[in-house]
Amino acid sequence: MGGLTTKSGRKHLAFALDYSEVNAASIAVEQVAPYVGVLKIGLEMFVREGPAAIRLGADFGCDIFLDLKLHDIPETVERAVANAYQLRVRYLTVHASGGPRMLAQAAERVAKEGAELTLLAVTVLTSLDGSDLEAMGIRNSPGEQALALARMAQCVGVNGFVCAASEVSRLRAELGPSAVLVTPGIRPAGLAANDQKRVETPDSAIRAGSSLLVVGRPIRDAVDPGAAAEKIEREIAQALEG
Ligand code: C5P
Repeated sequence: MGGLTTKSGRKHLAFALDYSEVNAASIAVEQVAPYVGVLKIGLEMFVREGPAAIRLGADFGCDIFLDLKLHDIPETVERAVANAYQLRVRYLTVHASGGPRMLAQAAERVAKEGAELTLLAVTVLTSLDGSDLEAMGIRNSPGEQALALARMAQCVGVNGFVCAASEVSRLRAELGPSAVLVTPGIRPAGLAANDQKRVETPDSAIRAGSSLLVVGRPIRDAVDPGAAAEKIEREIAQALEG
């Protein structure tokens, strides 16, 4: 059926709510919610607004991705994970560099609660390069370190990962089909990369094996955010059709 798509890209598209206040975010979410299944709330808004930000998910029928990059002693992280579950958070980031006991305890708590919450391990921040790692006493290159941390996280029960779209095919091959791979750095063809060093289109990220694309500025700063989100959702749907 030439050109018609039956799959929806909505649950594969996360909108990064890089706003300080819920009021500003909700104006945008109202426009994009038909096309965006997940809202990513980061430190900027969560520090200011707390759980009020999370209510945007229920208000607009979207899942919440709480991007707090937890990194602390195992018990503290476990208890934070339990509170996130109580708030009905669907995705939650933890730093893989918190180590195997921290990750295992977080994953065990999710399993024990039977929670519909996917932990996402952040490996090496893309803001760090080889010389930063060296200064931190790490001899691996960023790519080697990211892979080592991802394997370690998977071994202790965390099966979600945040990675650059350019790394997704390698991680998909290494971590297998069940891994949830989340990729920022997405730009529809022709749009400015902003400060993202390496960008991929929605089509190429999905074809490379990404499970969920995180998109911020291309939607937030568009003249018509709803239309921008719709276009990305359709590109995802078409890529899923193969
Ligand atoms: O505006 P843009 O689409 O670049 O935003 C992407 C979102 O993903 C932002 O919230 C940003 O902080 C986050 N992110 C990123 N690159 C990473 C990790 C997270 O852009 N490597």
